[in-house]
Amino acid sequence: MSDESIQETQFSRGLEGIIAAETKIGYVDGLNGKLVYRGYDINVLAEQSNYEEVSYLLLKGHLPSKDEYDQYVAGLKKSMDLEKDEYDLISQVSKTSHPMSTLRTMVSYIGGKDSGSVEPDLEKQEDISVNLIAKLPTIVAAINRATQGREFVKPDPDLSYSSNFFYMSTGRKPDTVEARMLDTALMLHADHGMNASTFAAMLTISTLSDMYSAVTSAVSTLKGPLHGGANERALALIRKVGTPENADKVIGDMIEKKEKIMGFGHRVYKVYDPRAKILKEYAKYVAEKNNKPELFHTAEKIEEVMINKLGSKGIFPNVDFYSGMIYYSMGFEPEIFTPIFAVGRISGWVSRALEYLSDNRLFRPKARYIGESELRKYTPINER
Ligand code: SDX
Repeated sequence: MSDESIQETQFSRGLEGIIAAETKIGYVDGLNGKLVYRGYDINVLAEQSNYEEVSYLLLKGHLPSKDEYDQYVAGLKKSMDLEKDEYDLISQVSKTSHPMSTLRTMVSYIGGKDSGSVEPDLEKQEDISVNLIAKLPTIVAAINRATQGREFVKPDPDLSYSSNFFYMSTGRKPDTVEARMLDTALMLHADHGMNASTFAAMLTISTLSDMYSAVTSAVSTLKGPLHGGANERALALIRKVGTPENADKVIGDMIEKKEKIMGFGHRVYKVYDPRAKILKEYAKYVAEKNNKPELFHTAEKIEEVMINKLGSKGIFPNVDFYSGMIYYSMGFEPEIFTPIFAVGRISGWVSRALEYLSDNRLFRPKARYIGESELRKYTPINER
């Protein structure tokens, strides 16, 4: 089918409202505040599942049997550790780069070493996908350690995926509540429709490039403050406001100046993000447990001011508003928050890229030309 025969669809800035693919992996109901992974409501999964099982579900389309689960988890554990040159590169790059830039470098570097990755065949890309799911927590944990000038902590095969990430990042094993909170946060971040970083991964794989390149594109895209970079900035905003009493003035002034309030608003959700509801409960818990209620009360007041002022425009807290408080309570510094988002999202990125690859069509949208209407005469430079 040539271009001419395709009925030109309407132009939509940022592809807003445009359907660019079909998927069975999950959907976001923006008007009713629902998120579904392969037919399971996110609240049910957050309550009863774990990250290993959710990542398997996204990849395969069904919850694993006990044998399938054990085999999958054993495979992740086998691939989890990094090689010496990879740890060395993390040490070197972390000295000068933001953790998200180091993560982008590491995915690309590890991909460059995998000579087989250039095969466009689905099976090879599936193997790379599981390898990346296995390695992301180790890479991000090592970046965290290097950024703090601490020794690397190797993975402990006796720990679960998220507890291992916590252990490799902090050097201590999480308590049961920390383990549950982190595992839930990773599940909540695992997939979210055609978000920008997932779209970047799908676009890259649609050229029959490799999964390492697709995930490098995704990491690069997630880094932006309008997307995954918002969680780091949301905590900075809450700390800048400082007390509940300041919220009205600080936020009001920012809205007056048409500044974007990080952690609020969404292209799809026009109601409260269901993930933010769950994360808010955990943020409240850690505030009370650590006897530091001020930060949470300030956040709650910001939420109240925002909903009063912009709720009528469909602007509510999104996944990034409360997540930072939880990570911070576990000892993670704000600059590592977006890499933690990537640890959760890796399974959504690769699952959707694999799904698209299985019925591939090169992404190639058009742009409406609004430039010169007539051809212009070329004049040599000495006559201009
Ligand atoms: C994520 O897509 C996904 O699924 C993403 C994600 C995922 O899981 O992958 O959910 C993760 O990226 C969540 C979003 C994190 N980003 C932020 O928190 C940054 C702050 N948010 C905004 O930049 C904004 O809400 C976006 C980018 C998230 C969505 O913006 P849209 O759909 O492009 O909406 P818009 O910018 O056109 O805003 C519409 C109106 C504007 O006002 P008017 O010009 O009509 O008067 O709403 C206003 C905006 O100024 N607005 C905000 C606002 N968000 C929108 N005003 C103040 N603060 C905000 N946060």
